[in-house]
Amino acid sequence: SLVAAVIPAAGRGVRLGPGAPKALRALNGTPMLIHAVRALAASRSVSLVVVVSPPDGAAEVKSLLDAYELPERTDFLVVPGGESRQESVRLGLDALPPDHGIVLVHDAARPLVPVDTVDAVIEAVRDGARAVVPALPLADTVKEVEPQPEAGPEPVVATPDRSRLRAVQTPQGFDRATLVHAHESVTQDVTDDASMVEQLGEPVVCVPGHEEAFKVTRPLDLVLAEAVLARRRL
Ligand code: CTP
Ligand code: MG
Repeated sequence: SLVAAVIPAAGRGVRLGPGAPKALRALNGTPMLIHAVRALAASRSVSLVVVVSPPDGAAEVKSLLDAYELPERTDFLVVPGGESRQESVRLGLDALPPDHGIVLVHDAARPLVPVDTVDAVIEAVRDGARAVVPALPLADTVKEVEPQPEAGPEPVVATPDRSRLRAVQTPQGFDRATLVHAHESVTQDVTDDASMVEQLGEPVVCVPGHEEAFKVTRPLDLVLAEAVLARRRL
């Protein structure tokens, strides 16, 4: 089955602070989105990349994709995104041509994911999993708290057993029909695509993620991303 990648890149990047939309910010001189597109197109299995641009930024993103060297064997589409990540992904799915049976969803904000991680996710879907997420064990202990209406100490409710917890990354890989069905039927707000498939009662599996697939969210993450690129000499 052919593999398409949907890259939601429509977010503003509020937690990164003032500036251009996050996906368009430069890392060592190249827009984060271009790094992310190259990371997915680096997989020989990925034949189509659909970039979901900021709602009013489709033309700008199209010209960016034209301005940078990208693999010849990969097709690229740009569609404008929506108000939430969930809506942006759905708009990307709506733009897929019929012939791609496997879909990856990858955050533009994870520009440094290694191709081996991308290929491991694809392989797990090809081996029969309907939903696959790259995931890592946690370094920190996690507390569940009772959030308070005002600033101040928050009571701890529970400490889940860390050895059973995973921090999940992207690309998440799906049987296309399963993901489309999830996006059609789940209305609750979610922070990743696999949780929508979970809500359908369908199985989701984790494969090993990678430290370099971290999400650029806050200013310190930019420092780390540029250091990783420098180590790769990019
Ligand atoms: N995203 C999107 N459409 C939205 C919101 C987010 O396509 N309406 C994308 C982002 O561009 C990003 C990915 O979803 O690639 C993960 O979201 P996140 O890291 O939260 O990025 P932002 O929403 O841009 O950041 P913030 O939440 O700090 O504003
Ligand atoms: Mg966000």
